[in-house]
Amino acid sequence: MIAWLSNLWGRATPVVEDASSRDAARLAAIHGASFHRGWGDGEFEAMLRERNTLVQRLRLRSNVIGFAVSRMAADEAEILSIAVDAGHRGQGFSRDLLLTHLGHLAGRGVRTVFLEVEENNQPARRLYGWAGFTIAGRRERYYREAGGQELNALIMRRDLS
Ligand SMILES: CC(C)(COP(=O)(O)OP(=O)(O)OC[C@H]1O[C@@H](n2cnc3c(N)ncnc32)[C@H](O)[C@@H]1OP(=O)(O)O)[C@@H](O)C(=O)NCCC(=O)NCCS
Repeated sequence: MIAWLSNLWGRATPVVEDASSRDAARLAAIHGASFHRGWGDGEFEAMLRERNTLVQRLRLRSNVIGFAVSRMAADEAEILSIAVDAGHRGQGFSRDLLLTHLGHLAGRGVRTVFLEVEENNQPARRLYGWAGFTIAGRRERYYREAGGQELNALIMRRDLS
């Protein structure tokens, strides 16, 4: 209803929904533009087939502008990747994406969610902090940048109740 009204007045609200194999190329393009080591279409297609992997897309009108991917094992899940297309960042869209994604994980019986984030990735850290994730550990020099720079990773955790 809110999305419908927003559309009526010309300001659309993105919706979070399960992705399908038809989204693989678009999700790979967003991933490739967002991360140093991009995932290809085939990797997304494989994840979309896996029953223990939840791949959701963020759609604004007819455009896919983001995604969240998690892998589940028993009552735990790890967020493998989350991204919003660069042209749509800074508008708070990732909040709805992440909260809706967590809600779907909870609906599948997940009680604890983990993720890794590069220590200096301020937009992501602010997002996860806002969503209630706390630091559970730190891995020194975990990521290697294209230029050879080594960066630390934080392990973050949130319990779903
Ligand atoms: C992380 C990401 C998904 C956030 O998406 P988004 O829709 O732009 O998120 P928001 O608009 O809600 O902004 C998130 C927070 O970062 C802040 N932020 C945005 N750009 C920033 C910058 N350059 N430096 C510091 N903080 C920044 C925002 O102010 C906001 O914090 P606030 O809510 O406390 O004000 C997006 O930046 C992205 O796709 N990044 C590349 C992929 C990535 O790093 N994914 C996370 C991997 S762990």
